[in-house]
Amino acid sequence: EIVHADGAIALPGFVDLHTHLREPGREDAETIESGSVAAALGGFTSVFAMANTDPVADNAVVVEHVWRRGREVGLVDVHPVGAVTVGLKGEKLAEMGTMAKSSAGVRVFSDDGLCVHDPLLMRRALEYTGALGGVLAQHAEDPRLTVDAQAHEGPNAARLGLTGWPAPAEESIVARDCLLAGHTGGSLHVCHVSTRGTADILRWWKSGEDRGGTVSAEVTPHHLLLTDELLETYDPVNKVNPPLRTDADAQALRQALADGTVDCVATDHAPHAAQDKCCEWSAARPGMLGLQTALGVVASTMVVPGLLDWRGVARVMSENPARIANLGDQGRPIAEGEPANLVLVDPEHRWTVRGEELASIAANTPFEGMELPGRVLTTMLRGRITAHEGKARQ
Ligand code: DOR
Ligand code: ZN
Ligand code: ZN
Repeated sequence: EIVHADGAIALPGFVDLHTHLREPGREDAETIESGSVAAALGGFTSVFAMANTDPVADNAVVVEHVWRRGREVGLVDVHPVGAVTVGLKGEKLAEMGTMAKSSAGVRVFSDDGLCVHDPLLMRRALEYTGALGGVLAQHAEDPRLTVDAQAHEGPNAARLGLTGWPAPAEESIVARDCLLAGHTGGSLHVCHVSTRGTADILRWWKSGEDRGGTVSAEVTPHHLLLTDELLETYDPVNKVNPPLRTDADAQALRQALADGTVDCVATDHAPHAAQDKCCEWSAARPGMLGLQTALGVVASTMVVPGLLDWRGVARVMSENPARIANLGDQGRPIAEGEPANLVLVDPEHRWTVRGEELASIAANTPFEGMELPGRVLTTMLRGRITAHEGKARQ
């Protein structure tokens, strides 16, 4: 087949370290199949499916189901993330070794949505993940500092009477976990960095010598582009954890992604059924769709202002996440002499986001009506076309 790609840019297939696919448990919001279609259309060839499903992915049965279902659909490599504790609020470690040895080959563990806040448990989790050659992805939030987390704690939330999540709730956990990663020699991955202070801590940690351990970090497209000024809309579509922060935070995050302090972009794609997003702000679930808009938002916040070139986009959306997750040859975006995982992008093509037209079952995009640059023309997984001109090919 001949694909016409005049003026297109070829990039390695994108790798998303942080995707909520909702199966099993909330198939009214997303399934592995619908999420895989969204991923292929967004230019992804690997996604890491978060563990906060129902039942929680804290055992081999659930992770093997997710792995097998992803293979059956065949549009994107779906790598299940294993919960680090039994249940999301667990006080003991999950059967991480069994999940690692299962056919799902789990290498990324997480307690997304509810960080491991007990320091001793976190220390043991880092030691064990390290022994398994894996990485521990932490949703950094000290629940003891977040009062009914509804929004970024600042003037905009105060004006609207919303309580929230102050920056130190994130930053204190990130600082602690960096020190524990160094002490244990483990690998920490900081999920969805959202504040300027977190970027400062990461910059400090990464500039040190002989730290021991490894620390990496991701930022979401929505934290690069959106701010807590959107609270004025009272629209629950803008509710997310961590919350949208200030303009100064967003600018610091763009800078941190440009200078390598933050390693990669991850979507935190979080579909929610309409009834979970239609209500009062306080009752709405946090989370936003991200797979099909990630490239456009990165292009508009990073490429257009000259903070990253397309080579840099390949680094933050493909190469770095593949390295962090230890994908090796099997998932490497482009390995010489092997069938290609790649995406062709038209950098000039601007398109308008319509939630109803996205492939996810849910439609909760905060980018509704926005015009974004950079369109995915074709996605290829191991040499096979998985999406072309807006249509997935199963
Ligand atoms: O906004 C969020 N949504 N943040 C999380 O940490 C979890 C996620 C979800 O599962 O909906
Ligand atoms: Zn999270
Ligand atoms: Zn998440």
